[in-house]
Amino acid sequence: MTHRSRVCCAAAVALFGMTLQAADKPPDDFVKAMKEAAAFVQEMSKPDAEFNFARTKQYVPIVRDAFAVVERYWLDRNQEGHYFKDIALAEEMIKLASDMGVAANLESPEGIKSSVQELSSRCKVCHDLRREQGPDGFLIKN
Ligand code: HEC
Repeated sequence: MTHRSRVCCAAAVALFGMTLQAADKPPDDFVKAMKEAAAFVQEMSKPDAEFNFARTKQYVPIVRDAFAVVERYWLDRNQEGHYFKDIALAEEMIKLASDMGVAANLESPEGIKSSVQELSSRCKVCHDLRREQGPDGFLIKN
């Protein structure tokens, strides 16, 4: 084997290794959590949704539980400490959902609106980091 073909093989092996550890199929509860998050953003971003205190209150446990599932997913895989950022993001979402609950209890449309915006602004942060389009549906990047 020439030096050049050996270098080439090593590169191919490295590339193959990368694709092997690239992404996992999400568990069902993760997908469900994401669908709930999407329904929340869609409904609560509509004009005047922030005046619907009762509906906002219903979304508090839904959003909180959804991101508890997300947090659990990475907590369970964090033995080597690769996922602190993802865990922190999920915890922020849980905290923001509670803040939204406080705003709803105070009947503060401004508070609700700001919580919804804060929550919505973080979806892309994680998707850029961890979401990958697979052949049939999204995958979770390692
Ligand atoms: C901490 C990381 C993280 C955060 C925050 C996050 N997501 Fe996701 N999301 C993912 C990952 C990873 C996937 C790919 C796996 C999957 O599809 O379930 C995904 C997939 C999705 C999907 C596709 C679900 C499907 O059909 O497979 C939707 C819709 C979605 N997210 C919406 C949202 C919305 C809306 C928010 C913000 C309110 C959000 N996500 C916040 C990580 C995150």
